Amino acid sequence: MSDENTKQKVEELDWSNLGFKYRNLPYSYHEEFKDGKWQNGGLTTESTLTVSEAAEDLHYGQEVFEGLKAYRRKDGGINLFRPDMNAKRLANSAKRLLMEPYPEDKFVEAVKAVVKANQEFVPPYGTGGSLYIRPFMIGTQPVVGVAPSEEYQFHIYATPVGAYIKGLNPMPYVVSDYDRAAYGGTGQAKTAGNYASSLLPSILAKKAGFADCLYLDPREHKYVDEFGGANFYGITKDGQFVTPKSNSILPSITKKSLLEIAEQLGLNPKETQIEADQLDELSEAGAMGTAAVISPVGSLTYKGKKHVFFSETKAGPVTKKLYEALVEIQLGDRPAPKGWVQEV
Ligand code: PLP
Ligand code: COI
Repeated sequence: MSDENTKQKVEELDWSNLGFKYRNLPYSYHEEFKDGKWQNGGLTTESTLTVSEAAEDLHYGQEVFEGLKAYRRKDGGINLFRPDMNAKRLANSAKRLLMEPYPEDKFVEAVKAVVKANQEFVPPYGTGGSLYIRPFMIGTQPVVGVAPSEEYQFHIYATPVGAYIKGLNPMPYVVSDYDRAAYGGTGQAKTAGNYASSLLPSILAKKAGFADCLYLDPREHKYVDEFGGANFYGITKDGQFVTPKSNSILPSITKKSLLEIAEQLGLNPKETQIEADQLDELSEAGAMGTAAVISPVGSLTYKGKKHVFFSETKAGPVTKKLYEALVEIQLGDRPAPKGWVQEV
Protein backbone atom coordinates (compact mmCIF):
# COMPACT_ATOMS: atom_id res chain seq x y z
CA MET A 1 0.00 0.00 0.00
CA SER A 2 1.65 3.22 -1.13
CA ASP A 3 -0.89 5.99 -0.58
CA GLU A 4 -4.53 6.35 0.33
CA ASN A 5 -5.65 6.52 -3.31
CA THR A 6 -4.42 2.99 -4.01
CA LYS A 7 -7.03 0.29 -3.47
CA GLN A 8 -6.12 -2.20 -0.76
CA LYS A 9 -5.30 -5.74 -1.88
CA VAL A 10 -6.70 -8.40 0.41
CA GLU A 11 -3.64 -10.66 0.13
CA GLU A 12 -1.44 -7.86 1.55
CA LEU A 13 -3.27 -7.78 4.87
CA ASP A 14 -1.88 -9.25 8.09
CA TRP A 15 -5.19 -10.01 9.82
CA SER A 16 -3.76 -10.23 13.32
CA ASN A 17 -1.91 -6.89 13.06
CA LEU A 18 -4.31 -4.54 11.36
CA GLY A 19 -4.00 -1.60 13.71
CA PHE A 20 -6.66 1.09 13.59
CA LYS A 21 -6.09 2.86 10.30
CA TYR A 22 -7.67 3.73 6.99
CA ARG A 23 -7.38 1.39 4.04
CA ASN A 24 -9.05 2.17 0.76
CA LEU A 25 -11.44 -0.72 -0.01
CA PRO A 26 -13.02 -1.43 -3.40
CA TYR A 27 -16.52 -0.20 -2.53
CA SER A 28 -18.09 2.73 -0.73
CA TYR A 29 -21.65 4.08 -0.73
CA HIS A 30 -22.67 7.55 -1.84
CA GLU A 31 -25.91 9.52 -1.98
CA GLU A 32 -26.71 13.21 -2.30
CA PHE A 33 -29.54 15.37 -1.00
CA LYS A 34 -30.58 18.21 -3.26
CA ASP A 35 -33.73 19.94 -4.48
CA GLY A 36 -35.36 18.90 -1.21
CA LYS A 37 -34.87 15.14 -1.59
CA TRP A 38 -32.41 12.29 -1.36
CA GLN A 39 -31.31 11.32 -4.86
CA ASN A 40 -30.92 7.63 -5.57
CA GLY A 41 -27.60 6.58 -4.12
CA GLY A 42 -25.70 3.34 -4.26
CA LEU A 43 -22.40 1.54 -4.18
CA THR A 44 -19.47 3.31 -5.77
CA THR A 45 -15.78 2.60 -6.38
CA GLU A 46 -15.10 6.32 -5.90
CA SER A 47 -13.42 7.03 -2.57
CA THR A 48 -12.83 10.76 -3.07
CA LEU A 49 -15.45 13.43 -2.43
CA THR A 50 -15.66 16.65 -4.40
CA VAL A 51 -17.04 19.77 -2.73
CA SER A 52 -17.08 23.51 -3.32
CA GLU A 53 -14.35 25.58 -1.66
CA ALA A 54 -17.21 27.34 0.15
CA ALA A 55 -18.93 24.12 1.27
CA GLU A 56 -20.73 24.51 4.60
CA ASP A 57 -18.91 21.61 6.25
CA LEU A 58 -15.43 22.96 5.48
CA HIS A 59 -16.07 26.23 7.30
CA TYR A 60 -18.87 25.75 9.79
CA GLY A 61 -18.55 22.07 10.63
CA GLN A 62 -21.96 20.78 9.55
CA GLU A 63 -20.95 17.12 9.71
CA VAL A 64 -22.22 14.04 11.53
CA PHE A 65 -20.89 10.51 11.52
CA GLU A 66 -21.23 7.01 12.87
CA GLY A 67 -18.98 4.07 13.64
CA LEU A 68 -20.00 0.43 13.70
CA LYS A 69 -18.41 -2.93 13.02
CA ALA A 70 -19.07 -6.09 11.01
CA TYR A 71 -17.82 -9.30 12.67
CA ARG A 72 -16.89 -12.62 11.06
CA ARG A 73 -18.66 -15.51 12.78
CA LYS A 74 -17.18 -18.94 13.43
CA ASP A 75 -19.42 -20.36 10.65
CA GLY A 76 -18.03 -17.77 8.18
CA GLY A 77 -21.15 -15.59 8.16
CA ILE A 78 -21.04 -11.87 8.99
CA ASN A 79 -22.83 -10.07 11.83
CA LEU A 80 -23.63 -6.42 12.35
CA PHE A 81 -24.20 -5.24 15.91
CA ARG A 82 -27.30 -3.05 16.36
CA PRO A 83 -26.98 -1.04 13.12
CA ASP A 84 -30.50 0.31 13.65
CA MET A 85 -29.20 2.16 16.72
CA ASN A 86 -26.48 3.82 14.63
CA ALA A 87 -29.14 4.81 12.09
CA LYS A 88 -31.18 6.43 14.85
CA ARG A 89 -28.19 8.19 16.42
CA LEU A 90 -27.07 9.58 13.05
CA ALA A 91 -30.57 10.98 12.55
CA ASN A 92 -30.51 12.52 16.06
CA SER A 93 -27.06 14.00 15.47
CA ALA A 94 -28.28 15.41 12.13
CA LYS A 95 -31.27 17.06 13.82
CA ARG A 96 -28.98 18.73 16.38
CA LEU A 97 -26.82 20.10 13.56
CA LEU A 98 -29.93 21.13 11.60
CA MET A 99 -29.15 18.67 8.79
CA GLU A 100 -31.48 16.53 6.74
CA PRO A 101 -31.65 13.13 8.53
CA TYR A 102 -30.78 10.14 6.36
CA PRO A 103 -33.70 7.63 6.34
CA GLU A 104 -32.99 5.00 9.03
CA ASP A 105 -34.09 1.92 7.07
CA LYS A 106 -32.03 3.00 4.07
CA PHE A 107 -29.04 3.50 6.39
CA VAL A 108 -29.11 -0.14 7.50
CA GLU A 109 -29.51 -1.37 3.92
CA ALA A 110 -26.63 0.84 2.73
CA VAL A 111 -24.35 -0.43 5.53
CA LYS A 112 -25.19 -4.02 4.58
CA ALA A 113 -24.50 -3.29 0.92
CA VAL A 114 -21.04 -1.90 1.74
CA VAL A 115 -20.17 -4.88 3.93
CA LYS A 116 -21.39 -7.37 1.34
CA ALA A 117 -19.50 -5.69 -1.48
CA ASN A 118 -16.27 -5.69 0.59
CA GLN A 119 -16.88 -9.00 2.34
CA GLU A 120 -13.44 -10.48 1.63
CA PHE A 121 -12.09 -7.68 3.85
CA VAL A 122 -14.04 -8.77 6.94
CA PRO A 123 -11.21 -10.27 9.06
CA PRO A 124 -11.39 -14.01 9.81
CA TYR A 125 -12.97 -15.21 13.05
CA GLY A 126 -10.41 -15.52 15.83
CA THR A 127 -8.05 -12.77 14.65
CA GLY A 128 -9.59 -10.08 16.85
CA GLY A 129 -10.15 -7.94 13.76
CA SER A 130 -13.39 -6.58 12.37
CA LEU A 131 -14.60 -4.40 9.51
CA TYR A 132 -15.08 -0.86 10.80
CA ILE A 133 -17.82 1.01 8.98
CA ARG A 134 -17.88 4.80 8.89
CA PRO A 135 -21.13 6.36 7.62
CA PHE A 136 -21.13 10.15 7.56
CA MET A 137 -22.92 13.15 6.18
CA ILE A 138 -21.67 16.62 5.27
CA GLY A 139 -23.34 19.91 4.37
CA THR A 140 -22.04 20.82 0.92
CA GLN A 141 -23.84 23.99 -0.10
CA PRO A 142 -21.51 26.94 -0.74
CA VAL A 143 -22.22 29.49 2.00
CA VAL A 144 -20.37 32.51 3.31
CA GLY A 145 -22.71 33.61 6.10
CA VAL A 146 -23.33 31.12 8.89
CA ALA A 147 -26.49 29.28 7.83
CA PRO A 148 -27.43 25.61 7.43
CA SER A 149 -26.78 23.91 4.11
CA GLU A 150 -29.67 22.71 1.97
CA GLU A 151 -27.49 20.18 0.17
CA TYR A 152 -25.79 17.15 1.68
CA GLN A 153 -23.60 14.22 0.81
CA PHE A 154 -24.09 10.93 2.65
CA HIS A 155 -21.19 8.53 2.29
CA ILE A 156 -20.03 5.25 3.83
CA TYR A 157 -16.57 3.77 3.78
CA ALA A 158 -15.35 0.60 5.45
CA THR A 159 -11.88 -0.42 6.60
CA PRO A 160 -10.58 -3.57 8.32
CA VAL A 161 -9.29 -2.85 11.82
CA GLY A 162 -7.81 -4.49 14.87
CA ALA A 163 -8.79 -3.28 18.31
CA TYR A 164 -8.44 0.52 18.77
CA ILE A 165 -6.95 -0.12 22.19
CA LYS A 166 -5.39 -3.57 22.11
CA GLY A 167 -6.85 -6.37 24.19
CA LEU A 168 -7.77 -6.20 27.83
CA ASN A 169 -4.62 -4.34 28.83
CA PRO A 170 -5.20 -1.69 31.48
CA MET A 171 -3.93 1.72 30.47
CA PRO A 172 -3.12 4.90 32.40
CA TYR A 173 -5.41 7.90 31.84
CA VAL A 174 -5.43 11.46 33.08
CA VAL A 175 -8.31 13.82 33.81
CA SER A 176 -8.12 16.75 31.38
CA ASP A 177 -8.47 20.41 32.30
CA TYR A 178 -10.08 20.93 28.90
CA ASP A 179 -13.67 20.22 27.82
CA ARG A 180 -14.58 18.33 24.66
CA ALA A 181 -18.13 19.67 24.50
CA ALA A 182 -20.00 22.53 26.13
CA TYR A 183 -22.86 22.17 28.60
CA GLY A 184 -25.92 22.39 26.36
CA GLY A 185 -23.60 22.08 23.34
CA THR A 186 -23.17 19.25 20.86
CA GLY A 187 -21.77 16.56 23.18
CA GLN A 188 -24.68 14.21 22.50
CA ALA A 189 -24.19 14.47 18.73
CA LYS A 190 -21.50 12.55 16.90
CA THR A 191 -20.13 15.56 15.07
CA ALA A 192 -16.64 16.52 13.91
CA GLY A 193 -16.26 19.58 16.16
CA ASN A 194 -16.30 17.49 19.34
CA TYR A 195 -13.38 15.48 18.02
CA ALA A 196 -11.50 18.53 16.75
CA SER A 197 -11.67 20.02 20.24
CA SER A 198 -10.35 16.77 21.75
CA LEU A 199 -7.17 16.70 19.63
CA LEU A 200 -5.06 19.06 21.76
CA PRO A 201 -6.02 17.62 25.19
CA SER A 202 -5.48 14.10 23.86
CA ILE A 203 -2.01 14.87 22.48
CA LEU A 204 -1.05 16.66 25.72
CA ALA A 205 -2.12 13.57 27.69
CA LYS A 206 -0.11 11.28 25.39
CA LYS A 207 2.98 13.48 25.64
CA ALA A 208 2.70 13.24 29.41
CA GLY A 209 2.78 9.44 29.16
CA PHE A 210 -0.93 8.60 29.36
CA ALA A 211 -2.99 6.55 26.91
CA ASP A 212 -5.52 9.39 26.65
CA CYS A 213 -7.56 11.77 28.78
CA LEU A 214 -10.90 11.67 30.51
CA TYR A 215 -13.20 14.72 30.50
CA LEU A 216 -15.24 16.02 33.40
CA ASP A 217 -18.66 17.61 33.06
CA PRO A 218 -18.20 21.02 31.42
CA ARG A 219 -20.43 22.97 33.83
CA GLU A 220 -18.97 22.13 37.24
CA HIS A 221 -15.84 20.13 36.41
CA LYS A 222 -16.90 17.84 39.21
CA TYR A 223 -18.38 14.71 37.63
CA VAL A 224 -16.85 12.19 35.23
CA ASP A 225 -18.13 12.69 31.68
CA GLU A 226 -16.35 10.48 29.12
CA PHE A 227 -13.24 9.86 27.04
CA GLY A 228 -12.66 11.47 23.66
CA GLY A 229 -13.85 8.32 21.86
CA ALA A 230 -15.59 6.15 24.45
CA ASN A 231 -17.94 6.27 27.44
CA PHE A 232 -16.75 5.57 31.02
CA TYR A 233 -17.92 2.86 33.41
CA GLY A 234 -16.98 1.90 36.92
CA ILE A 235 -17.65 -1.05 39.17
CA THR A 236 -18.34 -0.01 42.74
CA LYS A 237 -16.78 -1.83 45.69
CA ASP A 238 -20.11 -3.59 46.23
CA GLY A 239 -20.26 -4.76 42.63
CA GLN A 240 -22.57 -2.27 40.93
CA PHE A 241 -22.05 -1.23 37.29
CA VAL A 242 -22.17 2.58 37.15
CA THR A 243 -21.81 4.90 34.17
CA PRO A 244 -22.15 8.70 33.96
CA LYS A 245 -25.48 10.37 33.40
CA SER A 246 -24.71 13.59 31.55
CA ASN A 247 -26.11 15.73 28.76
CA SER A 248 -22.69 16.38 27.26
CA ILE A 249 -21.65 12.79 26.44
CA LEU A 250 -22.34 10.64 23.41
CA PRO A 251 -25.16 8.13 23.97
CA SER A 252 -23.00 5.05 23.37
CA ILE A 253 -24.59 1.95 21.87
CA THR A 254 -21.99 -0.21 23.62
CA LYS A 255 -22.97 1.47 26.91
CA LYS A 256 -26.70 0.86 26.28
CA SER A 257 -25.91 -2.79 25.53
CA LEU A 258 -23.67 -3.22 28.57
CA LEU A 259 -26.37 -1.75 30.81
CA GLU A 260 -28.59 -4.66 29.72
CA ILE A 261 -25.80 -7.23 29.94
CA ALA A 262 -24.91 -5.95 33.42
CA GLU A 263 -28.54 -6.36 34.44
CA GLN A 264 -28.44 -10.01 33.33
CA LEU A 265 -25.18 -10.51 35.21
CA GLY A 266 -26.78 -9.18 38.40
CA LEU A 267 -24.65 -6.01 38.53
CA ASN A 268 -27.60 -3.74 39.32
CA PRO A 269 -26.52 -1.17 36.66
CA LYS A 270 -27.13 2.53 37.11
CA GLU A 271 -26.61 5.71 35.10
CA THR A 272 -25.65 8.27 37.67
CA GLN A 273 -23.33 11.19 38.35
CA ILE A 274 -19.87 9.93 39.32
CA GLU A 275 -17.81 12.40 41.35
CA ALA A 276 -14.20 12.60 40.26
CA ASP A 277 -13.29 13.14 43.92
CA GLN A 278 -14.78 9.78 44.85
CA LEU A 279 -12.86 7.40 42.61
CA ASP A 280 -11.99 5.42 45.75
CA GLU A 281 -15.51 4.00 45.61
CA LEU A 282 -14.71 2.18 42.36
CA SER A 283 -12.89 -1.14 42.31
CA GLU A 284 -12.72 -1.30 38.49
CA ALA A 285 -13.10 1.20 35.67
CA GLY A 286 -13.06 1.09 31.91
CA ALA A 287 -13.74 2.70 28.56
CA MET A 288 -16.48 1.32 26.32
CA GLY A 289 -17.35 1.94 22.70
CA THR A 290 -17.36 0.43 19.22
CA ALA A 291 -13.68 1.10 18.59
CA ALA A 292 -12.61 0.72 22.25
CA VAL A 293 -14.82 -2.37 22.87
CA ILE A 294 -14.07 -2.61 26.61
CA SER A 295 -10.70 -1.26 27.70
CA PRO A 296 -9.78 -1.35 31.37
CA VAL A 297 -8.58 1.86 32.97
CA GLY A 298 -5.51 0.87 34.99
CA SER A 299 -5.07 4.24 36.63
CA LEU A 300 -6.56 7.70 36.50
CA THR A 301 -4.49 10.73 37.46
CA TYR A 302 -6.58 13.56 38.86
CA LYS A 303 -5.29 16.77 40.50
CA GLY A 304 -1.78 15.32 40.31
CA LYS A 305 -2.72 12.16 42.24
CA LYS A 306 -2.66 8.73 40.58
CA HIS A 307 -5.63 6.56 41.44
CA VAL A 308 -5.22 2.85 40.70
CA PHE A 309 -8.38 0.81 40.25
CA PHE A 310 -8.14 -3.01 40.15
CA SER A 311 -4.57 -3.23 38.91
CA GLU A 312 -2.28 -1.38 36.51
CA THR A 313 -1.42 -4.58 34.70
CA LYS A 314 -4.45 -6.90 34.91
CA ALA A 315 -8.11 -6.50 34.02
CA GLY A 316 -10.55 -6.93 36.90
CA PRO A 317 -12.95 -9.88 37.12
CA VAL A 318 -16.12 -7.90 36.32
CA THR A 319 -14.46 -6.17 33.36
CA LYS A 320 -13.44 -9.59 32.02
CA LYS A 321 -16.96 -10.94 32.40
CA LEU A 322 -18.52 -7.94 30.64
CA TYR A 323 -15.94 -8.11 27.85
CA GLU A 324 -16.53 -11.82 27.23
CA ALA A 325 -20.31 -11.40 27.19
CA LEU A 326 -20.22 -8.43 24.79
CA VAL A 327 -17.68 -9.88 22.36
CA GLU A 328 -19.31 -13.32 22.31
CA ILE A 329 -22.67 -11.73 21.47
CA GLN A 330 -21.10 -9.64 18.69
CA LEU A 331 -19.34 -12.67 17.20
CA GLY A 332 -22.46 -14.82 17.42
CA ASP A 333 -20.90 -17.18 20.01
CA ARG A 334 -23.55 -16.38 22.63
CA PRO A 335 -27.28 -15.87 22.12
CA ALA A 336 -28.05 -12.19 21.60
CA PRO A 337 -31.03 -10.32 22.97
CA LYS A 338 -33.69 -10.00 20.26
CA GLY A 339 -32.70 -7.67 17.40
CA TRP A 340 -29.13 -7.00 18.54
CA VAL A 341 -27.42 -8.96 15.82
CA GLN A 342 -28.25 -8.61 12.13
CA GLU A 343 -26.83 -10.97 9.56
CA VAL A 344 -25.38 -9.39 6.43
N1 PLP B 1 -18.20 8.49 23.22
C1 PLP B 1 -17.55 9.02 22.16
C2 PLP B 1 -17.08 10.43 22.26
C3 PLP B 1 -17.34 8.25 21.01
O1 PLP B 1 -16.70 8.76 19.94
C4 PLP B 1 -17.80 6.91 20.98
C5 PLP B 1 -17.62 6.10 19.79
O2 PLP B 1 -18.45 6.01 18.95
C6 PLP B 1 -18.47 6.42 22.10
C7 PLP B 1 -18.64 7.22 23.21
C8 PLP B 1 -19.00 5.03 22.12
O3 PLP B 1 -20.18 4.92 21.36
P1 PLP B 1 -20.58 3.55 20.71
O4 PLP B 1 -20.62 2.55 21.80
O5 PLP B 1 -21.92 3.79 20.13
O6 PLP B 1 -19.55 3.24 19.69
C1 COI C 1 -16.16 4.63 17.38
O1 COI C 1 -15.97 3.92 18.38
O2 COI C 1 -16.83 4.24 16.44
C2 COI C 1 -15.62 5.98 17.30
O3 COI C 1 -16.11 6.73 16.52
C3 COI C 1 -14.51 6.39 18.15
C4 COI C 1 -13.41 7.04 17.35
C5 COI C 1 -12.56 7.80 18.29
C6 COI C 1 -12.61 6.04 16.58
